[in-house]
Amino acid sequence: KHRRILFLNERHSSFLCPMQYSWVFPFPMHKLFPLEMGLPPAYPEKEMTSMNAPEPYRVLFVCLGNICRSPAAEIIFKKMVAEQGLEHLVESDSAGMIGYHRGCPPDSRMLTALKKYGYEDPGLKSRPVRKEDLEQFDLIVGMDRENLRDLKRLDKKGQWTGKIVPMCFFTTRFPDEEVPDPYYGGQEGFEHVVKLLQDGCGNLLERLKEQLSL
Ligand code: 4NP
Repeated sequence: KHRRILFLNERHSSFLCPMQYSWVFPFPMHKLFPLEMGLPPAYPEKEMTSMNAPEPYRVLFVCLGNICRSPAAEIIFKKMVAEQGLEHLVESDSAGMIGYHRGCPPDSRMLTALKKYGYEDPGLKSRPVRKEDLEQFDLIVGMDRENLRDLKRLDKKGQWTGKIVPMCFFTTRFPDEEVPDPYYGGQEGFEHVVKLLQDGCGNLLERLKEQLSL
């Protein structure tokens, strides 16, 4: 009753899950049932963090270096969340599959593209993905096939497979199946990434709001 089934369309089905056409949006019970709503029978004691509020839903955006696509996704998504006054319900972060750029700010070409569309960098710094992220985040959004493959490899026991999804699962206005890596290309590639991410992040937030009945 409390879960919605999303149907994958043909263009996503080929690489996300060739054998099945549905994906259950990962939504832990304790984030759907704040205490004042009454607890479902299986509500685990250890997951109660405060008396009257559900824990925030946590989204992690992942790309290769965490200096172009995933920090841009974090900046765009956080702005959408803030504009709708949902910061206490939806948190986000970003990380990279490689640690090479650890501690570096986003690429200046990405910041230029973001600025053109009205986004400011709050001072993000690159960090590599940690194994614990798989457990600690509710949804892990990879930018391309390689990121998804590497995330699934990190999930050795296959415990968190249902949380790992491609960003383009949420895009509707562009034919892209991946958020293309803009690093070795021109400025137009960075701008295309911003537009794709605006599309995907907007739809992702709408889905989350449906789940939270907001
Ligand atoms: P990102 O872009 O994965 O969107 O942050 C890249 C950043 C760095 C490299 C490749 C892609 N690199 O090869 O260092």
